Amino acid sequence: MAYKTLIVETRGNVGLVTLNRPQALNALNSTVLKELKEAYAAFHADEAIGAIVLTGSERAFAAGADIKEMQSLQFADIYKSDFISGWDDVAKVRKPVIAAVSGFALGGGCELAMMCDFIIASETAKFGQPEITLGVIPGMGGSQRLTRAVGKAKAMDLILTGRMMDAAEAERSGLVSRVVPPERLIDEALAAAEKIASLSRPSVMMAKEAVNRAFETTLEEGLRFERRLFHSLFATDDQKEGMAAFVEKRKPAFTHR
Ligand code: CAA
Repeated sequence: MAYKTLIVETRGNVGLVTLNRPQALNALNSTVLKELKEAYAAFHADEAIGAIVLTGSERAFAAGADIKEMQSLQFADIYKSDFISGWDDVAKVRKPVIAAVSGFALGGGCELAMMCDFIIASETAKFGQPEITLGVIPGMGGSQRLTRAVGKAKAMDLILTGRMMDAAEAERSGLVSRVVPPERLIDEALAAAEKIASLSRPSVMMAKEAVNRAFETTLEEGLRFERRLFHSLFATDDQKEGMAAFVEKRKPAFTHR
């Protein structure tokens, strides 16, 4: 399948998607959305793929939704078509996705990174929600996911002023899980993804589901949900294999990978 705005590759058991609109700092337009959904669907269907890495260029992960595409849109039309709601599908991919962010992750770019399961940032990364400076607000989840990730004070600061935060501040705030030198970014993300891909797929997918449930429910319901998933994993041969391998002091050979 030929992509216009992405480079889609496999590295071992990892799917690597690189946003590729350098002339627009990887601004996210409708073609990127369509192609990203296709790439994720293909990786989801591919049994050999256990995790996905989403990245951009050294200069920009993505500088936001495409302002030139949005500029002349009218309220009635975007309301009727529920403009940008398709990005919700991108956030719903069931295999783990790691964002490897270098350079600008602004507006929709920051929001796309936050749709991933965790973010590894290069020291050059800059995160922000500058929509307010365009006379709008975040529209791909920024006001919700950023607030959950970094808390109200930092989210309000970023969303109301439109300022950028650097990688160190993003790590301090809990938005990113690791910061690495730019030249290590892709290798670090691929190694994390390969580690995930080597584990038992049902447990990986359930772990993702359980953590995500924490954002949707009460503590009591979340604990019950987690426990039921935990119980259900005892129906898998991988639980038997993982625990036997520990006791026998050997590496597990999981069936469901
Ligand atoms: N949409 C469309 N094109 C964009 C873009 C965007 N979000 N961001 C950058 N570009 C284009 C620029 O127009 C420019 O193209 P031309 O050479 O054809 O003029 C090219 O990318 C390079 O950009 P700059 O010349 O501006 O590069 P710079 O290094 O001077 O500045 C920047 C970099 C600070 C990231 C600046 O490009 C910028 O501020 N971009 C816009 C950031 C932004 O406001 N993002 C939010 C978009 S709205 C949104 O995302 C809504 C939502 O939540 C759904």
